[in-house]
Amino acid sequence: MTSNSIDSLLHESRRFAPSDAFSAASEASRDLYTSAKEDRIEFWADKAREYVHWHKPFTETLDWSTPPFAKWFADGELNVAYNCLDRHVLAGNGDRTAIHWEGEPGDSRSITYAELTAEVKRAANAMAALGVGQGDVVAIYMPLVPEAVIAMLATVRLGAAHSVVFGGFSAESLRSRIDDASAKLVVTADGGWRKGKVFPLKAAVDAALANGESSVTNVLVVKRGDNDVEWTEGRDLWWHDQIEAAEPEHEAQGFPAENPLFVLYTSGTTGKPKGILHTSGGYLTQAAFTHKNVFDLKPETDVYWCTADVGWITGHTYVTYGPLANGATQVLYEGTPDTPNQGRWWEIIQKFGVSIFYTAPTAIRSFMKAGRQIPEQYDLSSIRVLGSVGEPINPEAWIWYRDVIGAGNTPIVDTWWQTETGAIMVSALPGLTTLKPGSAQVPIPGIKIDILGEDGTRVDPPNGGLLVVSEPWPAMLRGIWGDPERFKETYWSKFPNLDAPKYFAGDGAHVDEDGDIWLLGRVDDVMNISGHRLSTTEIESALVSNHIVAEAAVVGAADEATGQAVVAFVILKSNQEHAQTAAEASALLRLHVAKEIGAIARPREIFIVSELPKTRSGKIMRRLLQDVAEGREIGDTTTLADTTVMQIISDKLK
Ligand code: WT7
Repeated sequence: MTSNSIDSLLHESRRFAPSDAFSAASEASRDLYTSAKEDRIEFWADKAREYVHWHKPFTETLDWSTPPFAKWFADGELNVAYNCLDRHVLAGNGDRTAIHWEGEPGDSRSITYAELTAEVKRAANAMAALGVGQGDVVAIYMPLVPEAVIAMLATVRLGAAHSVVFGGFSAESLRSRIDDASAKLVVTADGGWRKGKVFPLKAAVDAALANGESSVTNVLVVKRGDNDVEWTEGRDLWWHDQIEAAEPEHEAQGFPAENPLFVLYTSGTTGKPKGILHTSGGYLTQAAFTHKNVFDLKPETDVYWCTADVGWITGHTYVTYGPLANGATQVLYEGTPDTPNQGRWWEIIQKFGVSIFYTAPTAIRSFMKAGRQIPEQYDLSSIRVLGSVGEPINPEAWIWYRDVIGAGNTPIVDTWWQTETGAIMVSALPGLTTLKPGSAQVPIPGIKIDILGEDGTRVDPPNGGLLVVSEPWPAMLRGIWGDPERFKETYWSKFPNLDAPKYFAGDGAHVDEDGDIWLLGRVDDVMNISGHRLSTTEIESALVSNHIVAEAAVVGAADEATGQAVVAFVILKSNQEHAQTAAEASALLRLHVAKEIGAIARPREIFIVSELPKTRSGKIMRRLLQDVAEGREIGDTTTLADTTVMQIISDKLK
């Protein structure tokens, strides 16, 4: 990029107001902001009644008597699966397509709400027969096939909670998640399609369960890859056999609003991933409300596609729960965007007439790189709303997205939220907001966000600060699985002296003169790789778990395609220095990280060094390593215990 174009991007000052036609037909109206402002609590109570069917209506909205532990709609009862399925069938919409599923090799399947409901009922009966019920946890380790969604819904229909583990995570990662939540059942597949090949999942489950006793009593296996699998009699069962044998009828029972819905693991600043706990009523309310209003969803006519995998929070809230609660028709695609050709996503949009499309900036940047001539070969005229999530979208990518995918006139919503927030927190509403490329813009109605300085006072534009959520919200995490202390410490201890507890998100941000929010990235040791969160410490622990490593430091280095990339600096044990070349050691360690955590965590580069820059108190100065990793002039080294270290490192890497 020339300095000229950087300049033009920083000065991208165009604003995009919604067209009159779009505004006139908008699902959301300004009343949302007005009524939320008048009485935030009553606003959410209204939304809970509007968007959710309650088996037993609630009478209390928010209980914030023991912060930071919130309860929403606590005396109400609901069944989340009933909300996503049966009620649409009962309302006469059973024939509407719920899922247009497309397999990577090109096989496809459309499933109506009536069919999906029937499948989930059978799956729920099959799981119940294996002893699953309220209080249990089901681990789901699947490719993106309809059965992944069916397994999630069947679990929660029984009042049990799921823990979906992304299929790209290793056997080791799967095992630690199974153990942490004491999962009773694992739902997996023989394999799934990715980049033209079948990747084995069942084998990873076998490896995960091989080491010693576990909490798992059964493994349900969906046949997808047709690859060979090993079988443990008494433990392993084919999904299709169990579904076929199961009773077709299943009546959904109501469960308390605060019944655990799922746990989803995410990286924090320490080595061990945190099991983020979400519960039922509040989560579903905010998921459905935001899905409808942020994407201007018209369930009768829209075809919605969110490209996330159900292994991430985006897939939980905006593939499974939000869209299905709203009775939307959506696309689910198993594979990668460039298999078998670079136009695969656009081909799918054309095939199903996708009208709302939600993806990540990293994907948009890779399409930009491949060139606009590829999407231009397809008819994308069905698209009317575009969404972005996962990291800040740079104005250049924003403009490209609007021009090339959105025909130059489609609104783009840049949605800020997190695994912990459960649902979208900051975003434009497309029929109301004048859009500003690069800014996530405004809190959702009913959400209170502030940008604070280190001392807890509000910062004024254009200064940057820390983003906090100042009031509890319905879809907020209810805790970290099994670790209430870590929950308090991680999210609620940053500003202990303020009169009310504030949720600290870990992101830096600033507000401009119009009150619009600009996200500036993480302020902690969390990296953002292709919109996925990884912790520097977690990868460091994986590296030092290898016998050749004495010490390791990991940084997230700016990367044009993936936002950030993992770069590691490793000191080998003294007896290892001559046992292999630096290239061999780094190749071996890249594989080791993939095995320990998963391919997504594999470092882009590993530098073998003899020293690491540390302060006098022994803290690694990652900032200096980041300078090296990004090929910059090395910054201020005066606080180092040994100021010559950086010289030694950069000399060695030349
Ligand atoms: C972190 C949360 C929830 C979506 C997927 C990621 C970053 C997310 C944006 C955005 C700027 C964003 C933040 C946040 N992030 N969306 N629109 N603009 N940054 O979920 O893995 O829990 O990561 O992703 O840094 O803290 P996650």
